[in-house]
Amino acid sequence: MSTEKLQLYKCEVCGNLVQVIEPSFGELVCCNQPMKLQQIQHDRSETGEKHAPIIEIKENEKYVTVKSHPMLKEHYIQFVEVYKKDKSEMHLKYFNPEEVAEFDINCLPDDIEAIEFCNIHGLWGENKND
Ligand SMILES: [Fe+2]
Repeated sequence: MSTEKLQLYKCEVCGNLVQVIEPSFGELVCCNQPMKLQQIQHDRSETGEKHAPIIEIKENEKYVTVKSHPMLKEHYIQFVEVYKKDKSEMHLKYFNPEEVAEFDINCLPDDIEAIEFCNIHGLWGENKND
């Protein structure tokens, strides 16, 4: 099994989270066991909590935000990442608890995708059905 560009892998023992910059065929190992590929999840209407990053324009500025999600010390959005669809460019913003999970992406072109990582619920992508 080989890796793909910008995949995220987590160590289920120590919590190390790594991202693939240059893919290859070797297995990623941490704490003597294979790291777990983080699959992109999508919000389902039957669950109350919202994780999907949303790209929106506010006062002529383009942002990625995550709405209706806690930003508490024990449960928060750790980072948002935005990349061009061809994965030739990637931007990441970390958040701390109590901050607003909002990333100014005005400098980026339109052909972008956004993901976010929740410290409890993992990796989430944009909703595709709106
Ligand atoms: Fe969450």
